Amino acid sequence: MNSSKRRTRSGAAGFLFFPVKGLVWFARGSDCGRIGPSISLVPSDCEVRAYDAPLMRKRNGMATSAKGIMDRLRHETAELHRQAESRPLQKHLGAGTLARETYAAWMSQLLLVHDTLERLLDEQVRRASHPGFAQAWQSLVRHSGNLRSDLTHFGLDPHSVEALDATAALLDDLRHWGERGDVALLGALYVLEGSMNGNRFIRKALERAYAAPDGAGLSYLDPYGDNQRATWQAFRERMDVVGFDENECEAILAGANRMFRGIGEISDEQFEAMPV
Ligand code: HEM
Repeated sequence: MNSSKRRTRSGAAGFLFFPVKGLVWFARGSDCGRIGPSISLVPSDCEVRAYDAPLMRKRNGMATSAKGIMDRLRHETAELHRQAESRPLQKHLGAGTLARETYAAWMSQLLLVHDTLERLLDEQVRRASHPGFAQAWQSLVRHSGNLRSDLTHFGLDPHSVEALDATAALLDDLRHWGERGDVALLGALYVLEGSMNGNRFIRKALERAYAAPDGAGLSYLDPYGDNQRATWQAFRERMDVVGFDENECEAILAGANRMFRGIGEISDEQFEAMPV
């Protein structure tokens, strides 16, 4: 796909993510299966919370929702998680029936996504574009390092990976947010970091399938070992104490939404190119 076509897709996504409020409800309502009443001019869940004085906090004079962003992400993307788990590639991963070559090719696309997001997050911390970037991003593993060594194990050169169309479109959107210093990047981070919770189980299946009891080539799937839960909990707490205002919460949810969709599209394109 050429870059102008990709730019058009990015533009369309941006329109859905950052329009006037009513359209935000529509876009998110349809993705989360909440259609109908959510497109009326009745206040959204966010606004109901924002008007609930006892539940409200203030940061820089802006209302912030009392329910933490991490609970909102968990609940408002639950359906997207269910869909992500049920893609054919994910099902074969979980069952340990994905060919090694397909697994390695899939990892190479994830390398592009992680590497791009990591660079953009580092840049936001350097530019101090929002305090949430330093707060949330600190002390997490750079998964691109594990991916590079896993790819080398599978005989692929991590420096010569070509992006699938779906990957290229997702990277365009990430870079677009990077240029704007948009906290949507933190929603994207939530999805990739959260996926490590399930990746531990996938690793067990692949250790058996690829006869790799020592986990050779599978380091990406279990970066924290027994510290997985604690690392995830600490990330949740760091995100929650930032105190994102309502617009920022919407942007983070849009970022998570886009990452879930992007990962699903990449899975499908990869699986179509190289089925089991
Ligand atoms: C076979 C596929 C998958 C399985 C078996 C799986 C399983 C899991 C499990 C067991 C958890 C922990 C739930 C908890 O402790 O509360 C989890 C969390 C999560 N997974 Fe997955 N997952 C899969 C695929 C994915 C994919 C493809 C993505 C991303 C595109 C993803 C993103 C997440 C996120 C963001 C969380 C954190 C949810 C939260 O607590 O906010 N998962 N997953």
